Amino acid sequence: QSAPVITLDGPAGAGKGTISRLLATRLGWSFLDSGALYRLVALAAQKRGLTPLLDEAVLADVALNLDARFTQDTAGEPVILLAGEVVGTQLRTESCGDLASQVAAMPDVRAALLERQRAFAQSPGLVADGRDMGTVVFPQAPLKVFLTASVEERARRRHKQLMEQGLSASIDDLLGEIAERDRRDSERKIAPLKPADDALILDCSDLSIEAVVSELMHHAEQAG
Ligand code: C5P
Repeated sequence: QSAPVITLDGPAGAGKGTISRLLATRLGWSFLDSGALYRLVALAAQKRGLTPLLDEAVLADVALNLDARFTQDTAGEPVILLAGEVVGTQLRTESCGDLASQVAAMPDVRAALLERQRAFAQSPGLVADGRDMGTVVFPQAPLKVFLTASVEERARRRHKQLMEQGLSASIDDLLGEIAERDRRDSERKIAPLKPADDALILDCSDLSIEAVVSELMHHAEQAG
C-alpha cells in the first residue's frame, strides 16, 4: 500500500459519506464508498432471486464476480453501475442497507471484497469510508477517523437525505432500523464496527459538515 489513505469509519448515518467525499475532493484524492460494495452484493443477489440471503458460498461468489463500476456524472456526482445499470437510488434504500448488513456479516463475502477495496489506494491518495477501513482493510493508514453521532441525530439526517432523494420514510422507523443495523454491525464476529486503537474519535452530533471537514483537513495536513 504505497498511496496515503485516510480511513473514516463509523455507524450508519453519521455523515461519513458526505464528509469523506468533501475531504477527498479538497485533497484531490480518490474516494472509496465501501458500504456501496456491500449494498451492491446485496442488490446483485436480490436481482438473482437469492433472498433470503443464506448461502454464504454463493454470496461470496457474487461478491468476487461483482460487475460494478464507480464513475461520476458531468456535475461530479458519483454514479454507480451494476452490470451496466445505474443503481444509485436502489442502493440507498433502507431495505438494501439492511440486506447489505446481512451479507457483510459473512466472512467469505468480506474476504471476496478485500482486494477490490485495497486496489482503490492509488496515488495521490485515498479517502476510504466504511466500518472496518482502519481496523482491517487499511490498517497502515496514517490517519484513521471514527465518526459518531447520536442515534437520534443520525435518524434525523437520514430522513432528510431520503426526502431530498424523493424517498419517503418515518423518523421512528428509521430510528429503529438504524439501531438494529448498529447492533448487527457492532456485534458481528467478523470485522465488527469499532474504532481502530489509534483512531481519532469525533462525535459530530453538534458539528456542521464544514466544521468536521476543516478539522479533518487540519489533521490530514499534520499526518501528511
Ligand atoms: O455505509 P453503508 O450504510 O452504505 O453500509 C451498508 C452496510 O454495509 C453496513 O450496515 C455494514 O453492515 C456494511 N459495511 C461493512 N463494512 C464496511 C462498509 C459497510 O460491513 N466497510
